[in-house]
Amino acid sequence: MMFRSQIVGCGAYLPERIVTNEELATRLDTSDAWIRQRTGIGQRRIAADGELTSDLAYHAARQALERAGMNGNDLDLLVLATATPDETFPATAVKVQARLGMTRGAAFDVQAVCSGFIFALAVADNALRLGQARTALVIGAETFSRILDWQDRGTCVLFGDGAGALLLNAVSESGPMQRGILSTHLHSDGRQHDILYVDGGPSSTRETGYLRMQGREVFRQAVHHLSSVVDEALAANGLAPSDIDWLVPHQANTRIIEAVGRKLGLDAEKTVLTIERHANTSAASIPLALDEAVRDGRIRPGHIVLMEALGGGLTWGASIARW
Ligand code: UT7
Repeated sequence: MMFRSQIVGCGAYLPERIVTNEELATRLDTSDAWIRQRTGIGQRRIAADGELTSDLAYHAARQALERAGMNGNDLDLLVLATATPDETFPATAVKVQARLGMTRGAAFDVQAVCSGFIFALAVADNALRLGQARTALVIGAETFSRILDWQDRGTCVLFGDGAGALLLNAVSESGPMQRGILSTHLHSDGRQHDILYVDGGPSSTRETGYLRMQGREVFRQAVHHLSSVVDEALAANGLAPSDIDWLVPHQANTRIIEAVGRKLGLDAEKTVLTIERHANTSAASIPLALDEAVRDGRIRPGHIVLMEALGGGLTWGASIARW
């Protein structure tokens, strides 16, 4: 029997501390005007000292479970997307597993940087479809503030910390109007490693390292690859851009999101934007945006939701869901 992954809840968590562009401009050669015009970012949240990726992930996960009236023991799969794990090993996911009281099944991390949520969603969706698990939690959680070079104005102004979670339940597949994840599409190109990477790690420098990026080149690649993977996702489901109720993109740069929207011919009002307040939270940006749009009533049951992301690797992907 084949199953489908139905969406049963979502949750989000943002650290308390808000850092505005103005605050950054007091210690860096930058300005609120530059950051807003080039990126759409107005502020970001930064995790407190001692507040770890697993803490952010736990709070988002707890909220998703509570809203669905479930607890950790209802889960048999936990997939956590992060590029900023608490420790080199074990996976951050197992710390979250323990705190949630989840004692069955398996928990592990997926590493695809800013595309991580789409990759983790694909892993969980495939497991549910095949009957390998029945209830899965997909989390995107990051503390990019810990891997930023705070002297480099070209990168440190772009990112923020946060976490979001999506709860999925396997239901048996029947009929054409079923709700749930319709498809996932994943890509990577390792030849593009050097345009967005962290210059450290346990096997190379033995230090954590800092994020390095050739912004202009990443921008160019992002518009190209995101447009193509969105076309692929639409075609796989026999959908036209006008069928999309909500575009929930990875929030890296408003100009990238708009360029992809224009290429697609999507109504700009159908795009969920959180970048002004969250900045780029890497794997957390899509589930944070989903949570916001579900809570404020924009995304409603039956809506067609298109998600897309690109990140270091390069990696990129898309998914379409009927909410
Ligand atoms: O989520 C992962 C994927 N990441 C992305 O998608 C990021 C993609 N890239 C971008 O979003 C953009 O390339 C950036 C926002 C990073 C940069 O925007 P840009 O329009 O490509 O600017 P640029 O890097 O070409 O820099 C233009 C100028 C430079 O000065 P000169 O050489 O023209 O004198 C930079 O030094 O802006 C300068 N600059 C800044 N000025 C004020 C760079 N960063 C800053 C800053 N404040 N924070």
